[in-house]
Amino acid sequence: MDSIGSLGLQQGEGAPSCPQEGLPCPSNSSEMVQECLQQFKVTGAQLRQIQTSLLGSMEQALRGQVGPAPAVRMLPTYVGSTPHGTEKGDFVVLELGATGASLRVLWVTLTGIEGHKVEPRSQEFVIPQEVMLGPGQQLFDFAARCLSEFLDVLPVDNQGLQLGFSFSFPCHQTGLDKSTLISWTKGFKCSDVEGQDVVQLLRDAIQRQGAYSIDVVAVVNDTVGTMMGCEPGVGPCEVGLVVDTGTNACYMEEARHVAVLDEDRGRVCISIEWGSFSDEGALGPVQTIFDHTLDHESLNPGAQRFEKMIGGLYLGELVRLVLVHLAQRGVLFGGHTSPVLRSQGSILLEHVAEMEDPSAGAARVHAVLQDLGLNPKASDAEWVQCVCMAVCTRAAQLCAAALAAVLSRLQHSREQQALQIAVATGGRVFERHPRFLSVLRETVMLLAPNCDVSFIPSVDGGGRGVAMVTAVAARLAAHRRLLEETLAPFRLTREQLAEVQAQMREAMAKGLQGEASSLRMLPTYVRATPDGSERGDFLALDLGGTNFRVLLVRVTTGGVQISSQIYSIPECVAQGSGQQLFDHIVDCIVDFQQKQGLSGQSLPLGFTFSFPCRQMGLDQGILLNWTKGFNASDCEGQDVVCLLREAIRRRQAVELNVVAIVNDTVGTMMSCGYEDPHCEVGLIVGTGTNVCYMEELRNVASVDGDSGQMCINTEWGAFGDDGSLSMLSTRFDASVDQASINPGKQRFEKMISGMYLGEIVRHILLHLTSLGVLFRGQQTQRLQTRDIFKTKFLSEIESDSLALRQVRAILEDLGLPLTSDDALMVLEVCQAVSQRAAQLCGAGVAAVVEKIRENRGLEELTISVGVDGTLYKLHPHFSSLVAATVRELAPRCVVTFLQSEDGSGKGAALVTAVACRLAQRTRI
Ligand code: G6P
Ligand code: BGC
Ligand code: BGC
Repeated sequence: MDSIGSLGLQQGEGAPSCPQEGLPCPSNSSEMVQECLQQFKVTGAQLRQIQTSLLGSMEQALRGQVGPAPAVRMLPTYVGSTPHGTEKGDFVVLELGATGASLRVLWVTLTGIEGHKVEPRSQEFVIPQEVMLGPGQQLFDFAARCLSEFLDVLPVDNQGLQLGFSFSFPCHQTGLDKSTLISWTKGFKCSDVEGQDVVQLLRDAIQRQGAYSIDVVAVVNDTVGTMMGCEPGVGPCEVGLVVDTGTNACYMEEARHVAVLDEDRGRVCISIEWGSFSDEGALGPVQTIFDHTLDHESLNPGAQRFEKMIGGLYLGELVRLVLVHLAQRGVLFGGHTSPVLRSQGSILLEHVAEMEDPSAGAARVHAVLQDLGLNPKASDAEWVQCVCMAVCTRAAQLCAAALAAVLSRLQHSREQQALQIAVATGGRVFERHPRFLSVLRETVMLLAPNCDVSFIPSVDGGGRGVAMVTAVAARLAAHRRLLEETLAPFRLTREQLAEVQAQMREAMAKGLQGEASSLRMLPTYVRATPDGSERGDFLALDLGGTNFRVLLVRVTTGGVQISSQIYSIPECVAQGSGQQLFDHIVDCIVDFQQKQGLSGQSLPLGFTFSFPCRQMGLDQGILLNWTKGFNASDCEGQDVVCLLREAIRRRQAVELNVVAIVNDTVGTMMSCGYEDPHCEVGLIVGTGTNVCYMEELRNVASVDGDSGQMCINTEWGAFGDDGSLSMLSTRFDASVDQASINPGKQRFEKMISGMYLGEIVRHILLHLTSLGVLFRGQQTQRLQTRDIFKTKFLSEIESDSLALRQVRAILEDLGLPLTSDDALMVLEVCQAVSQRAAQLCGAGVAAVVEKIRENRGLEELTISVGVDGTLYKLHPHFSSLVAATVRELAPRCVVTFLQSEDGSGKGAALVTAVACRLAQRTRI
């Protein structure tokens, strides 16, 4: 069990050791030293307990469990893959915090896989103590000055430099270039930085310096830089381990195991921040009085307890405290100390590494102790060497226990018993300490026997690794810029929406006056919304939406009962001959009547025909033009009621009394108006889009009479067909329009409705793929297939409950090989397209309700809008965006949106019922 304990005390097995505090002074000094050294001995059991406890804490933090606070932080770093060596370019790297009181600036040239390796150029700058403990601005200004000083001697432009910031402190990262400092460690304690985004602080300092325009594109923890800097040939390294002034490790975790991330595929690099590990149960037994003293006198008492037993900033201090302790008990240096020995931090890592170096020998130890103002005897030098070895051996063993915990975690998360892994190591404790790595390696082999671990020293302290991450970040940042440029035209301003509202008002006014306008403002001959006195059984047809439905609508005192049947309209029928289409419609009616036992009955029929018709009466409607993928011949310019009646006639033995033809907007308004008398607007946002509303008859030039109201079908789908929307139209809208069966027509509809949004998204994805922003630039056949990206995908992809993983599932079904960044970008494309659609729709509704308010000379208008359509009903945010836009643009209108439950078939039946009631009254 205790085989581990002996490790590290190779030299002078017979070497003496030191007694516990307050115990009677043992006779001979060697015992006292032995007793002291004994305190630094860690047993195998203790190391395993630390391994287990740290593993437990890691998994607790991964699960995002709140209390008790996990001892380690497990911080996602936004680095999702180890380098694939393709990165190219020149990068500036600024390293702060890895090596204590110094910062380093590097110029790294990445040459990709085939290029020859270029040695980075670097310069180190010592950070004055007062800067490490002063105001944060001073520290970042110091860093910016060092950057300029370094770049001044390099033959580089001062434009467009890309910088990777290696910031070796615990940070919450929210992006590759956004990172908030949680707390300082390792001798730093600048004010006004904790809780701040350190990238912004650096950007501000570089701005203040003003010498160079440097784009800070990535912030990286030094462990990540170390891991990413692993020589491609030997790696990839999937663990980055740093032991310099401080200590920490990162590793590649399965993304699905990281609760805070909404990912289920791929891996993400996690910075463990094991320096803060402090589980009393595991660490308490191995902490000595010297550890407590060191912590107590440190800048951050109680914090980073584990780091203070391993980090190079503390090893020298631990040795110093032990030497002072032994000297004050007369065991060493003849009981003398020196002012230097008594001053904190006077023994550095370099001293310890030298004194312990077996090749250095006692002579070197002598020299170091003399520099500390001591006059050591030979035995003193030996004991000091033992103390150094004890302190460093424990540090290496504790570090090994922590690394073994990471290896166990990797075995868990990859369900691998035997693990082969490469660990990149970085930091001066590795570089300078003669035995640290060997003790670490041996201890790991004992604590994680099933892991075959290779330790790969990082070539340049991770500078290349930071440049790799910066290259990836730069590529992603460039992609993000291209994405923003592509989506910018979809981000409409309030001014633009108000302009659309104004343009629509103008077009409405012109249309009502019969002047040239892209809004036809078609009278519907519906003069009133239902008053609840309607009664009877009615047949209704609902053509023009996603589904063709035949309905039986019973209007009784008890309310309205509806039974209906959906029939498909095959594309060949919708785009065949008009006769074929109307014969198909009558076939469906007959089938429905048979099923409903209505055969032979001639019920009044209301026909919801969702296409632009110029009506001369309730049962007369000349189809002006097809929309939404319909294109049956010999219909445009025809009275569709006649076409239906002819079809009925062709189908002998069928009696049908077509009483009314209704647009689906009117049907929806009537259907909702039956429940809410305030409902005077009907809105459809489905396959197509349109709106109707109750207009004052005096404003309708084409209809006689100027009292009372009439419902106007605006046919706003055609808004902008006169070019008035060209300022908003994008290249993607143009592509969708050109590919449609009615190019140049229905421009407003083609920016809003369900038939087109998916296609707009598809064209944008094709564009972004051609720019290499998406899908690694690989154009797939599937994505080039028309209508393959259904508008319902937008609703699914944008649903809050849908994690990115499902976004990926939808896209993979489309045969699109994508990364998580791709999924995120596709989500943003969908959001931009649907947001514009909803806002344009909102601007249109604002125009209509403001018109009604002004018609009635009201200060404030309370009105309801009946709405139907798959897009409006199924899209997670569409309806709220429409309502928000209306509130913004028509603040003096209180608008309630009523989702129609029964569709416009019921509305058509109610219009028919009103017509029958009015017809009956005239007959009496
Ligand atoms: C409902 C109405 C139809 C309307 C349709 C529009 O189904 O009953 O009259 O045409 O909505 O939405 P859609 O998404 O089907 O095109
Ligand atoms: C910091 C880590 C860093 C480690 C090694 C610790 O003090 O909290 O972020 O990786 O030192 O430099
Ligand atoms: C038609 C309108 C219809 C709208 C919603 C448009 O394409 O022109 O008449 O109201 O779609 O279905």
